[in-house]
Amino acid sequence: MFSDELITRLKRAQTVVALTGAGVSAESGVPTFRGENGLWKNFRPEELANFNAFIKNPKLVWEWYQWRKELVNKVKPNPGHYALVELEAMFDDFCMITQNVDDLHRKAGAKKIYELHGNIMRNRCVDCNEYTNEDDVQFAESDALPRCHCGGLLRPDVVWFGEQLPQRTLMQAFDAANRAEVFFSIGTSAVVQPAASLPIEARRAGAYVVEINFEPTVISHYVDESIIGKSGEILPKLVARLRQDRSSSEE
Ligand code: APR
Repeated sequence: MFSDELITRLKRAQTVVALTGAGVSAESGVPTFRGENGLWKNFRPEELANFNAFIKNPKLVWEWYQWRKELVNKVKPNPGHYALVELEAMFDDFCMITQNVDDLHRKAGAKKIYELHGNIMRNRCVDCNEYTNEDDVQFAESDALPRCHCGGLLRPDVVWFGEQLPQRTLMQAFDAANRAEVFFSIGTSAVVQPAASLPIEARRAGAYVVEINFEPTVISHYVDESIIGKSGEILPKLVARLRQDRSSSEE
């Protein structure tokens, strides 16, 4: 399943980076965006995941995010999330760049996570920009919408279509891609920019780029190695193989 080239490079590598997308959480029961039962099949992103929609109909957008939060609160990290935490412990300089807002990497124990698209469990005030965590949210009597203590409307702290990504996080992600010796693109359709440029950037900077996906994507022809399958099955096998190689080389 894994080429000798990949195993050799991982054995030598200090800096390993993993870009993850919704496919990594699919086996936890979190719907992806563009798959068979993807969110964008049943909902219209322009009606829900953008600021104008929110200002036009904050109640509808909040109901959708409450539904997604309840769903995410019910699910747990899957073996793919935990395998990534084990990979993090195997390398001196490992970081996770995620497009996912479901907080499952952190719940699985990952430490160095760059959240490119925010985190559904965090709220931000549209007026004073202050963060309010889940249990401090009050719903105003008048409009039953979550409000900040300053009276401003709270919004989910996620990046909506057309919005800027957190600039510092984005810079850190591109810096990691440029430093990576091995770069994994896992469970992402690699169609949404600027995240989709990271594997390309990493390869241009000399990384060995490996894609792990249920099916080929638009970057499959571009990466060094494309492994087709479920991330929740492939990643634990990769960790087991690296463990086995390390223990046999220590004998
Ligand atoms: N294992 C590996 N890959 C999987 C699995 C799985 N079990 N299940 C699905 N996939 C793959 C699909 O083949 C697809 O390529 O995961 C990818 C999911 O793609 P998308 O649904 O487009 O999700 P993602 O790439 O994360 O979307 C990027 O788009 O809507 C925005 O902000 C949203 O962060 C999201 C961004």
